[in-house]
Amino acid sequence: MLVACKADNGVEHRETGEEMINNIISTLSLEEKVGQMTQINSVGPVNDDLRGMLQAGKLGSMLNEVDVKRINEIQRIAVEESPSGIPLLFARDVVHGFKTIFPIPPGLASTFNPELVKECSAAAAAEAWSSGINWNFGPMIDVVRDPRWGRIAESFGEDPYLVSAMGVATVEGFQGDDLAAENTLAASAKHFAGYGAAEGGRDYNTTLIPRRELHNIYLPPFEASVRAGVKTFMPGFNDLDGVPASGNSYLLQDILRGQWGFKGLVVSDWASIYEMINHGFAADSREAALRAFKAGVNIEMASSTYRDNIISLVKAGKIKESEIDRLVKQVLMLKYELGLFDNPYIPEKKQNVFADSATLMLAEKAAMQSVVLLKNNVLPLEKDSEIALTGPLAHQMYEQLGTWNFDGDSSLSVTPLMAMRELAGSDKINFAPGLRNSRSSDSKGFKKALNAAYNSDIIVFCAGEEAIITGEAHSRAYLDLPGAQNELIKELAATGKPIILAVLAGRPLTIGEISEYADAVLYAWHPGTMGGKAIAKIIYGDADPSAKLPVTFPVTEGQIPIYYNHKMTGRPVIEDEWVHINDIPEKAFQTSLGNTSHYIDAGFEPLYPFGFGLSYTTFEYSDLKISSPVISITDTLEICFVLRNTGKRSGTEVAQLYTRDIAASITRPVKELSGFKRVQLEPGESRKVEFLLPAANLGFHGIDLEYRIEEGEFKLWVGGDSNASLSTSFEIKNKL
Ligand code: BGC
Repeated sequence: MLVACKADNGVEHRETGEEMINNIISTLSLEEKVGQMTQINSVGPVNDDLRGMLQAGKLGSMLNEVDVKRINEIQRIAVEESPSGIPLLFARDVVHGFKTIFPIPPGLASTFNPELVKECSAAAAAEAWSSGINWNFGPMIDVVRDPRWGRIAESFGEDPYLVSAMGVATVEGFQGDDLAAENTLAASAKHFAGYGAAEGGRDYNTTLIPRRELHNIYLPPFEASVRAGVKTFMPGFNDLDGVPASGNSYLLQDILRGQWGFKGLVVSDWASIYEMINHGFAADSREAALRAFKAGVNIEMASSTYRDNIISLVKAGKIKESEIDRLVKQVLMLKYELGLFDNPYIPEKKQNVFADSATLMLAEKAAMQSVVLLKNNVLPLEKDSEIALTGPLAHQMYEQLGTWNFDGDSSLSVTPLMAMRELAGSDKINFAPGLRNSRSSDSKGFKKALNAAYNSDIIVFCAGEEAIITGEAHSRAYLDLPGAQNELIKELAATGKPIILAVLAGRPLTIGEISEYADAVLYAWHPGTMGGKAIAKIIYGDADPSAKLPVTFPVTEGQIPIYYNHKMTGRPVIEDEWVHINDIPEKAFQTSLGNTSHYIDAGFEPLYPFGFGLSYTTFEYSDLKISSPVISITDTLEICFVLRNTGKRSGTEVAQLYTRDIAASITRPVKELSGFKRVQLEPGESRKVEFLLPAANLGFHGIDLEYRIEEGEFKLWVGGDSNASLSTSFEIKNKL
């Protein structure tokens, strides 16, 4: 927005947004400035306290208020009755949808389809905007290598390249091209940084990440989000190597604002400034406020250390008013960019626009592309098969929406039961859930489920976790299917009928052993509103599975952390040399037999590798060629290969490119994802697939933490998962 005004010399001057904000700041009292740095939770109907804060200009933003009429009313008080008339920001966690719920982020990542994820984010933004929200606390772009951590359900998985691509897509989807336009929200990159590395997978726990690992694994998605123009950042709850993220100047000043040039605002996590007292990083709320302030946190969410202390810290000379002005300016600039000074209200006829048919279709498409086929001997099924539909998640309209689903409308949900009845006819589906919920150990319902199985040709068992045992503060130490699900599956298997296991869960579960009882396994994550439809269409072959895992699945909890892009050891694993606790005589353990990096009781391999997922057809990779065996650090390597659909059905393959720097000044991962592409092929069809690999992408942060691309030999692989074997080598030289 530009405001026309006459300068002293009479020449008309168009005021820029920045000038306008500077002018506003010059008129604000210290109390009002601190108000802009204050964020409180919704209080429901406007009460006297809230009205008083608004009228005094002591509030800059709210979270969790989603009643659009109330938002307009709050906004009106701020704009019309406060001294400076500054509108508020209204924030919400719109993690994977608003009223229409898309698959949880691991599901979205399984699509390997950033364009689709961008569309889903844009649709979620539009629904939230129509409720008065202008700021989303997402995307969550923590790299996560531990499925015990409940918040893996909010993440895009373990790989920095994939998490970056999905994070950028989400930021672009939420923010659109013009933040001031309708249907867009400011996005927030969270949780900066390393929160996903919580020790032992216990939420909120200490994170001990060596600096080089921080820069090479955990920070890239955040840097990518800054390049994509993300407007806000949120530090995590975690203590990162001794310094809680909310008071971490290295992260928030040196890296974020210094190295990356971030110009937006930083909002604390919920009470995370105050919690620095619990961490033992501040003696009291005054010290906590000072530390967060000096680290550059613009807005305090939920707790009140800023409100209670900043003014006295200014009086004590610990904080300069000019420092406050700098932080307040970043808050007001966001309000300006959102167009709130011009359009603070949501017009009546644009309010509460939810779940239109295009959005529901998009949710179905996303769910379809997020269901990973892990095993298959029987699918797809004929629609005239008589099916026993069982398992605790077969008809749970709320649970299939997953975690961080504050606003989701579960009455819109299409469950597997509803969709299978619709697709095949109610008379073909014999429904008996067997268990009341995923945690139930009550076997009362087993008999009905077994009867349904005896009267059917095939069993579809919807297993998994309820939403409530996933997400924030819901870490699990045992990753089996909870409750009596395994027992019920085993009893059903004893009927001799084939079993299709569809798992609806928030994390990778250790389903290796129970999968032995199943003839097919679909991993659907929590697939959202249209999840049942997607599962049913895949089961009947109306849709083809094409998803791939964004995270490694462990065989057992004892293998965690297990991730594909690990380092090589000095004694690399050689499968022939594995020793197995049960097959080897005691004496053998004292010899050098099998002195490689593996467990004597769980081997080395995961249950499923990163990038894995089957299709109803098969693909063959061949004719791998590169543009040159030697490139310079400024070159881009062209890679091409032939992908052929060798099966009898059409299908979509996510072709993946992996690379390795063979020897470098620091050790490098055994493989790193460096590209992926979804390719749709008819039966028998072949296509030349190309990847462009800039040498600049093959660098890393070295001994001195500086980013460098080093000369030497590199290997690359193409294939359908991280075990890809078709490979070639090339060299990078500084000067050709
Ligand atoms: C979470 C954040 C979230 C905030 C506000 C916190 O508990 O860690 O991710 O944005 O609450 O809901």
